[in-house]
Amino acid sequence: MRECNVYCELIPYNASTERVAALKPRGFILSGGPNSVYEDGAPRLPQFILDSGMPILGICYGMQLLAHQMGGKVAPGARREYGPAEVHLNTPVSPVFEGLPESFPAWMSHGDSITRMPAGFRALAHTDNSPLAAMGNDAGLVGLQFHPEVVHTPLGKEIIKNFLYRECGCKGSWTPGSYIAETVAKIQAQVGDSKVICALSGGVDSAVAATLIHRAVGDHLTCVFVNNGLLRLNEAESTLDAFQLHMKMKVVFVDATDRFLEKLRGVVDPERKRKIIGEEFIRVFEEEAGKLGKIDFLAQGTLYPDVIESTSYDTTVAVRIKSHHNVGGLPEKMQFALVEPLRYLFKDEVRRVGLELGLPESMIWRQPFPGPGLAVRVIGDITRERLDTLRLADAIVTDEVARTKMDPPVWQSFAVLTPLQTVGVMGDGRTYANVVAVRIVNSDDGMTADWARVPYEVLAGISSRIVNEVPGVNRVVYDISSKPPSTIEWE
Ligand code: XMP
Repeated sequence: MRECNVYCELIPYNASTERVAALKPRGFILSGGPNSVYEDGAPRLPQFILDSGMPILGICYGMQLLAHQMGGKVAPGARREYGPAEVHLNTPVSPVFEGLPESFPAWMSHGDSITRMPAGFRALAHTDNSPLAAMGNDAGLVGLQFHPEVVHTPLGKEIIKNFLYRECGCKGSWTPGSYIAETVAKIQAQVGDSKVICALSGGVDSAVAATLIHRAVGDHLTCVFVNNGLLRLNEAESTLDAFQLHMKMKVVFVDATDRFLEKLRGVVDPERKRKIIGEEFIRVFEEEAGKLGKIDFLAQGTLYPDVIESTSYDTTVAVRIKSHHNVGGLPEKMQFALVEPLRYLFKDEVRRVGLELGLPESMIWRQPFPGPGLAVRVIGDITRERLDTLRLADAIVTDEVARTKMDPPVWQSFAVLTPLQTVGVMGDGRTYANVVAVRIVNSDDGMTADWARVPYEVLAGISSRIVNEVPGVNRVVYDISSKPPSTIEWE
C-alpha cells in the first residue's frame, strides 16, 4: 500500500473502535494468518468494521473470515493448496482486476476453503483447483484466496492498487514530499518553543530524523556527535561536515577517543567491549546534555518495525527511553519526551524521505555499521595503532569495491584486523606481521548472508594494495563463510 503512495497502518484485529476511527480510514485490508476460522481464539473481524460500509479486502484467512462472518461456509482443511497457481479471471471483470491479463500467476497457501459464499457475492476468479480464487460484492467487499502481497504474485501490487484507487477512492498522494510537510508541522506542534537534543551516529536513521527536526525547529535542535575513536577513516570529519557545513545544523562535536580507548585498554572479550562502549557513550551524552541547559525533548530514529514490535505502542508523551543497540540504552532518569519523526516509516521510506530532504546519497545508501564501530573489527586488543592499521586496510576495501559494479550491490564490505601474526617475505627480508581478513557479503536484511562472489581481479587488487600500502600487514585472506552458521561481523 505504501508503495502505491497510500498511507496505511498495521493494527491488531482487536483494536478499539475509537483507535480505528481516529485513523479516519478509507478502507480495510484483512491480512492472512495461520488460523482456521473455527478454532477457539481465532482472530475475528470486529462488527464495527463490517458495519462501516467501507471497502474491505480480505486476503486468504481474511477472505475466509469475511465469508464466515457474513453467512457463508468455510470447509476446514477441505482442499489444501500450497504454491504457485494460475488465476483465471471471471467476467465481468471486477474493478480490483481491471487492467490485468485474463490469467496470471499467483501464490496460494491455504488449508480451509470457502464452500458457500455469503449472499450478494459472486466468484471473481478461479484456479484449476479452486472455483473461488476471489469473490466480491457490489459494496466493495473483496476476498482473495491467493496472496497478492508476495513476490510470487508478480501482479499483486496492481490488484492492491486497484483496490485502493478504485474501491477506496484513494489518490496516491502520500509521497516523501507530503510526509515531510506533514511531519514538520507535527514536530512544530509537539515541540513548540522547547529544545530538542539528538545523538547523531552518521547512520541514515539519525541523519534523516535530525534533518526533519531541524527543518521544523531550526536551532532549537542541538545534535551531539561523539567520536568514540572507533570510526572509519575520515568518518568523523565527513559526518561533521555534512551536518555542520552542508545542512547548517548546530552540532556539538565531542572527541572522546581518549576516554573510550582508555576504558577499552586490555579488553578482548567482544561483549565486554560492547558494554563498555555503550556505557561510556551514555556518560558522554549525559555530560553534553547537562551543559546545554533545559532540554525537554530527545530525538530518536525509531522506525515502524520497532513500533510494531514494541509493547509501549504509540506513546506520544514522555516514556521510558527504549534501549537501542546503537546507543546502548539511555538512563531512565533523563526525563525527556521523545520526538520520533520516523516512527511510521519503513527503512526504504526513510531513504526516500532522506533523498527528498537533500541528504547526500553516500549517507542515504551507507552500509550498515555496528554501533560499537571498529571495536568489533579489531579482534583482540584495541590500540590506537591497531585501529589505524585497520582503518587504512578498510578504506582500501571500500575504495576497490566502490570502483566495481557488483550485481547485486553488496550489503557490506569491510576489513577485519585479526589477532594473528604470520611470516612473510618483503624485499630481501623476513617479516612477521598482521593478517587482515576481507569480508564482503550479499544479504537482504542482515539476518542471513552469503559471501559475495567478487571477481578474482578485484580481490587481487584489494590484497596487493593492502599489503603494499598498509604498514604492518603482510597477508590478506578472504572470508568465504555464509551466515548462518557464521555471522557477518567477526566481533
Ligand atoms: P551479525 O554480525 O550478527 O550482524 O551477522 C548482522 C548485521 O548487524 C550489524 N550489526 C550492528 N548494527 N549496531 C548496529 O546498528 C550494532 O551494534 C551492530 N552489530 C552488528 C552488522 O554489521 C550486520 O550488518
